[in-house]
Amino acid sequence: MVASKTDLEQKVRSRLVKLFEQTPCMPIMVRLAWHDAGTYDAQTGTGGVNGSIRFDPELRHGANNGLKIALDLLEPIKKEYPDIGYADLFQLASVTAIEFAKGPKIPFRMGRKDATGPDACPEEGRLPNAEDHMSQLRRTFHRMGLSDKDITVLSGAHTLGRCHKERSGYEGPWTHQPLEFDNSYFVEILKPNPDPGLIRLASDLSLLDDSYTRSLVETYAENKDIFFKDYTESHHKLSELGAVWEY
Ligand code: HEM
Repeated sequence: MVASKTDLEQKVRSRLVKLFEQTPCMPIMVRLAWHDAGTYDAQTGTGGVNGSIRFDPELRHGANNGLKIALDLLEPIKKEYPDIGYADLFQLASVTAIEFAKGPKIPFRMGRKDATGPDACPEEGRLPNAEDHMSQLRRTFHRMGLSDKDITVLSGAHTLGRCHKERSGYEGPWTHQPLEFDNSYFVEILKPNPDPGLIRLASDLSLLDDSYTRSLVETYAENKDIFFKDYTESHHKLSELGAVWEY
């Protein structure tokens, strides 16, 4: 039996670091946690960080293609530390991944209550699409209770990882160092001509269409510290969307 929740959190963090040292799966962990959180509907109080993405009906949603890889990588850790809930494990894997990739240290609270069955899975269509423009992104993120600033700064998570043709239909990374968390996503999307080999989705480019979100993109491209500060705040919020706290 683990002595305390802080002790449990530290042990799981160390285990996750070991995983990242062996398998550089940091980006897919960030995507997994975001897709568990991003189904939140503030009006109905449904969806959000409850670990329901591990159940088949939700895992099978088109937006979640490929995320079984992340679940399979985390399952041995869950077996080793059964006292941590899935919802906590997914969010902890994401903040630990960002820190491991030289990103900011995001405050973390343990104790999210897990959904216990597939009836907690939301209907398909609550997550954004790569083809979305600002008006659709706004509808989706405002439904979660998030702001235009959150949309912009959280899109900066695309500093990590890449698109995989067999998962989303798109191919390629957003930056030249997709395993390093920095502000290069914003630098890249501001370039009038994309660097060969790098991708930008319609949703990424739509951040440039609105004067407020564009000015944020410019600030984050110029100043990594401001990006890290704002990212930390928004990601912390994201990681607790709809949380029901068990303790
Ligand atoms: C703004 C709306 C967003 C859209 C339309 C979007 C769309 C996508 C798409 C199409 C992929 C490629 C998946 C694949 O082929 O493997 C992807 C990957 C990714 N997304 Fe997003 N995303 C959005 C926001 C976010 C947010 C808010 C986060 C986290 C805070 C995030 C984190 C990631 C990460 C880390 C990856 C890379 C995964 C990997 O390399 O396996 N995305 N996203």
